[in-house]
Amino acid sequence: MDWNNFFRSELGPVQPYQPGLREEQIREIAKTPAIHKLSSNESPYPPFPAALEAMQNCLVNLNEYCDGSCYDLKQGLMREYQVPFEQIMVGNGTNELLMLLAEACLTPQSRIAYCWPSFIVYRLAAQLTGAAADEVPLKADGSYNLDGLLAAITPETKIVFVNSPNNPTGAIVSQVEFERFMTAVPEHVLVVLDMAYNEYVTDPEHMVPLSFYDGERPLVVLHSFSKIYGLAGVRVGYGLAPEPVIKAIDKLREPFNVNTVAQVGALASIGQKEELERRCAENETQRAQLCAAFDRLGLKYYESQANFVWVFVPESDKTFERLLELGIIVRPFAVGGGLRVTVGSRENTRATIEAFEKLFAEERI
Ligand SMILES: Cc1ncc(COP(=O)(O)O)c(C=O)c1O
Repeated sequence: MDWNNFFRSELGPVQPYQPGLREEQIREIAKTPAIHKLSSNESPYPPFPAALEAMQNCLVNLNEYCDGSCYDLKQGLMREYQVPFEQIMVGNGTNELLMLLAEACLTPQSRIAYCWPSFIVYRLAAQLTGAAADEVPLKADGSYNLDGLLAAITPETKIVFVNSPNNPTGAIVSQVEFERFMTAVPEHVLVVLDMAYNEYVTDPEHMVPLSFYDGERPLVVLHSFSKIYGLAGVRVGYGLAPEPVIKAIDKLREPFNVNTVAQVGALASIGQKEELERRCAENETQRAQLCAAFDRLGLKYYESQANFVWVFVPESDKTFERLLELGIIVRPFAVGGGLRVTVGSRENTRATIEAFEKLFAEERI
């Protein structure tokens, strides 16, 4: 078999997603038993208590297939957002929905635009569909450059991804900027607004996710249960979109794409306002402490509204390895020389600050 020519040519340049090191691998490198995993923007806390209970109670029914229509979960989302049932899609994480949207719309003849650096799946979506990607640099503050995106749009552009807060910088798009963008964006473009970290935002200037959503214009709003809700392990995300978009995704998706535990856990998480506010406030407190430490050390970082902070260090790869030895796992970025540090629990923050201070004291940053 000639494997080199066997697979679709689009797969050629694709780099598979690099999973983080496994616990045992980290233990071999780290010179401490205390490991702090701050590399995947996960919540440091378990799922909400109501979600945990609901998920535990559903386990005895796992002999049956899950509900392929996600009926109950969509009903819950419908009540939460006051949008029709027919305008809701649920996926095996937001990740699946991003890929399905790309598959539904993109061909090697079309183009897609998004800012960079941003979520790696946007690039993967372009590569796997063969569409040409227009990667527009972020603004100096690390936020989405919407004017740049508008300028990059051509008659062939089918999708524009907008991420706010943006992963990996944490910077947001304001409502004023978003309004200007939505007024100017041509009608042949599907705007996909990825709001995976929206629940962490406290800045009142932030764009209102549904302010332009009317179920008619080509706008999709995506949310995730993986972040503040602490459900990353069961995989569930959702999107609000005009009915034709939902119908196209329904043709492409697996019939049972969202498992029972995920559906039940997500449904029980909706409307838990107090828990949500508590976690958001705690994230803000921990993020402020991290940033205050970076200030003391003279390290620059992007103003973040999410559960992670991109901090600039002279040599991100080396600092990444040194932090690893101290049991702190972060994410280095080749572009821009930054480290993305997930905001975790009080204990995570204390250990991270101590590690940075130690490296500074030893002049190893
Ligand atoms: C910007 C952004 N969008 C979407 C996702 C995917 O989230 P999910 O776990 O719901 O697939 C992530 C995950 O890190 C993300 O950073």
